[in-house]
Amino acid sequence: MPGVLNTLTITPFEGSTIGARVDGLDFSRPVPDEVSNELKAALHEHGVLVARSTNVDDHTMIALGKKWGPLDNVTAHKKAGRKMRLDIDEIFDVSNIDPEDNLIAEGDALRVSSARGNALWHADGAYNPRRSGISIIRAVELPPKGTGGETEFLDSRTSYEDLPDAKKMEIQNYVGMNTLYWNRIQANPDMEMFQSIDCTQVPLAKHRLAQIHEPTGRGNLYIGSYNHHIEGLPIDEGMRITHELRSHVEQDKYKLTVSWENPGDMAFWDNTAVLHRATIGAYAGKYRRDMRRISTFDDSKWAYGENDPNNSQQIGLK
Ligand SMILES: [Fe+2]
Repeated sequence: MPGVLNTLTITPFEGSTIGARVDGLDFSRPVPDEVSNELKAALHEHGVLVARSTNVDDHTMIALGKKWGPLDNVTAHKKAGRKMRLDIDEIFDVSNIDPEDNLIAEGDALRVSSARGNALWHADGAYNPRRSGISIIRAVELPPKGTGGETEFLDSRTSYEDLPDAKKMEIQNYVGMNTLYWNRIQANPDMEMFQSIDCTQVPLAKHRLAQIHEPTGRGNLYIGSYNHHIEGLPIDEGMRITHELRSHVEQDKYKLTVSWENPGDMAFWDNTAVLHRATIGAYAGKYRRDMRRISTFDDSKWAYGENDPNNSQQIGLK
């Protein structure tokens, strides 16, 4: 179709090393391959894309995601006993609404612990043997404006490039040991059910800390709140280096904040180039906020990290 390639407009955000706004995405018809390819290339370059007030729904979001690879799903969480509000397994429910369609209450420890965990910096799927590639999230229902809930991103490629050469050399072969439990322990110091877990005695996903972002060839610091220690180093030493690197990447100069304005707003991010977190705003416990995410499995050579691709059981939490 003539002109299809020109339907998208990509406008980089000013004052940030990551992120761009996308205009011209239309989900009323299937997204053509040319457009999805253009979108993917822009995503790899900018790390984060934001589209406002789109006409996407669950099925059109999934159709777009499937063009970029097989989709992760909630099967492991269901097996662990988690009850689901939504009946499409490819959709991760990151709302504050429970399966009975009520606001999640402070007393619902498991759901509160999960929301708090998502508010720590991470790359989706880093705690699994096969990590996530691209994530897409969209707003279905939003709380009143000014009540918070922004999504924040960190430019982990620039943060890697900014490391001194000696530090790059030091970490080049380090393998991070990742578990979802470590995220939950840090996020929920008041919850006894997590504090007794020994993160050296649970299944750990191994992913290198210093990586190459294949589509651009740039270096990337792949670290976040799932990373408990470093393979082959004394636990304390690995935790100290992990903490040091996290403090580096978490500096404000690497951060982009995306606010949610209207239903249909979407954010796309490349988990192999940026980190992200949710923020818990004043809306929590007061107003409904329905956000839905899908994620592709990474298909780069780094996808399985140092894990056995033939033994890649995913981790699920109730
Ligand atoms: Fe996430």
